[in-house]
Amino acid sequence: MRIGILNSGGDCPGLNAVIHGVVGAAHQLGWEVIGFRDGFEGLLPPGDYKILKPQDTIGILKMGGTILGTTNKGHFVAKIGKGDVAEIPPEIVARAKRTMEQLEISALVVVGGDGSLTTGLQLYREGWPIIGVPKTIDNDLDATAMTFGFDSAVTSVVDGLDRLHTTGESHKRVMVLEVMGRHAGWIALWGGIAGGSNVILLPEIPFSLNKVADFIKQRDAQGYHSTLVVVAEGASMPDGELVTIASNTSGEVRLGGIGEQVAASLQRLTGKDTRSTTLGHLQRGGAPTALDRILGMRFGVMAVKLAEEGAFGRMVSYQAYHVDSVPIEDAVSKLRLVEPGGELVLAAKAVGICLGD
Ligand code: F6P
Repeated sequence: MRIGILNSGGDCPGLNAVIHGVVGAAHQLGWEVIGFRDGFEGLLPPGDYKILKPQDTIGILKMGGTILGTTNKGHFVAKIGKGDVAEIPPEIVARAKRTMEQLEISALVVVGGDGSLTTGLQLYREGWPIIGVPKTIDNDLDATAMTFGFDSAVTSVVDGLDRLHTTGESHKRVMVLEVMGRHAGWIALWGGIAGGSNVILLPEIPFSLNKVADFIKQRDAQGYHSTLVVVAEGASMPDGELVTIASNTSGEVRLGGIGEQVAASLQRLTGKDTRSTTLGHLQRGGAPTALDRILGMRFGVMAVKLAEEGAFGRMVSYQAYHVDSVPIEDAVSKLRLVEPGGELVLAAKAVGICLGD
């Protein structure tokens, strides 16, 4: 038997651990593994792939990125139509299918986020032997309690905050760190708590910068002259608090990201020296943590188990300390957002962290 694997969408620490798990488990069964390069694009004729032998995976567990390459562009980007249906053109699907047939692939492991899994779901509904593995550093897929890459991203946020803490303290500054999380604030919330942030601003919790400014002034009065602020990239500036730096002929020029906006606004409201840093792709690159290596490897092993059982159309899922699976259709497009009244938010507030609400 021959099984294919591809990584699709943005990269994520732990992708190589999944490849390691798939190759290791498949070879125990005497199967051959084909790794397609650059996501679904590698399926297009003549096919861009390599045969993955166990010796090809030596040392990859600790490597960030993916040895197969990935893309969030190209012919297979799901334009999500009605419901959870991707709309990949039939001629593209037919061309990719020719490669699957020529290579006699009996199962295709798609390691991807929401969009890539939606593409996988379309292909499964068209008869392809698809198995999904969830991948997102944002940890916002409802169908799995944890995705690999999240712990590594949080660890990078904590490292960034530890560094901002010392320089912020030395200069008595407000230090703002913008982190990833377009829809969900999990990275900001976990990273902020673990990194000792005083203020955490999330997409899910509308905040007032006046309240944050009052909090900072209060800290100042109490003798705490430096404040750490974490803001998720998907958070929105409150109405009327958009900060502009200049005007040109086409109107006002907005400051860059939400981090810069928040920093400029807090500087104006508190009079304190404020600096903003965007962590960006530093939190997506680099070596995976031990937890992400293990989770990724287990996801890979489960994907092979599902292939062995012929359980196509299912996605690997981590629930209550066990790796199991759920139907892909139950998984796509269902985001898990931070609950404003949830235990973690309440715990943050209980230790005096300001969420600006
Ligand atoms: O969804 C994962 C993610 O890392 C987001 O948190 C972030 O907004 C986005 O990908 C960045 O994507 P790109 O690498 O295409 O800039």
